[in-house]
Amino acid sequence: MQQQRESYPEYEEDQERLKRRVRELLRERRAILLAHNYQRDEIQEIADITGDSLGLSQTAAKTDAQVIVFCGVHFMAESAAILCPDKTVLLPRLEAGCPMADMITAEALEEKKREHPGAIVVCYVNSSAAVKAHSDICCTSANAIQVVSSVPNGHPILFVPDMNLGNYVAQHTEKEILLWKGFCPTHHRLKAEKVREAKREHPQAEFMAHPECTPDVLALADHICSTSGMYKYAQTSQARELIVGTERGILYRLRKENPDKVFYEPWEDMLCPNMKLTTLEDVVYSLENMVHVITVPEETRLLAKRSLDRMLEIPRDY
Ligand code: 13P
Ligand code: SF4
Repeated sequence: MQQQRESYPEYEEDQERLKRRVRELLRERRAILLAHNYQRDEIQEIADITGDSLGLSQTAAKTDAQVIVFCGVHFMAESAAILCPDKTVLLPRLEAGCPMADMITAEALEEKKREHPGAIVVCYVNSSAAVKAHSDICCTSANAIQVVSSVPNGHPILFVPDMNLGNYVAQHTEKEILLWKGFCPTHHRLKAEKVREAKREHPQAEFMAHPECTPDVLALADHICSTSGMYKYAQTSQARELIVGTERGILYRLRKENPDKVFYEPWEDMLCPNMKLTTLEDVVYSLENMVHVITVPEETRLLAKRSLDRMLEIPRDY
């Protein structure tokens, strides 16, 4: 269970002071703060935009701010740097990575491509710029089915690096899909038995799940979608109770936007430690010192951008 911070008046005061300082610095630097839906509550609270990987990439691609402070993990800031070479992209905690993204390298991908000549590489955005550069098109959890469906028939698809998302997509398309064996440690640990228990405890509740969950967990879901898709589903569903199969940071906005609904966690350890690294202090330090600037070598950037641009041409459908 995540430790709850005790609420001391000095702590609250300090938090408010830090939030004011962040907003002041954002104005001074003509910066925009983008935060992923799994970030700490206080980071989400002061963000200009909170969103899923696709929404944040789209915002980064069209913002006219000079500086983008990315509160998320490294591949997300890197995607912003790929799309916006004329802007300064800051990642407040350099060590905030994604273990799934580290489960594939450009060299290993090249080797696999040699084993499957003619395969089209669809690359989940949870990957490095180098891997994107060696892929044909990117996808996120919000558009993976549309991206894979857009690939012309007659080519096998090499789907990297998330086998769970790839397997989910394979069930919704006719395409031949070869899976890389990567996975998200946070979602992979959610067991179907935990979901069944939660369903037994809350028989009226619907279960929504992120496609990074394992196939046996997804088989129990009433709705499968990206993190931002969950906000939309929570608002449109008739259900008054929902069991949430993704990282617990999402609960902040779900509860705030739906005060009349109840959200349950099937398992209280659904936590991505990397997503929780960034604090308000880090954001202040980042903006004061303009660190850590995320850049991508130009040759890699152009190739990776081609894969991201192809994805961004496909209209969003939650
Ligand atoms: P979303 O794009 O759905 O927000 O997912 C990103 C992610 O890292 C999920 O673990
Ligand atoms: Fe990566 Fe999983 Fe964390 Fe998402 S939740 S950033 S996939 S480790």
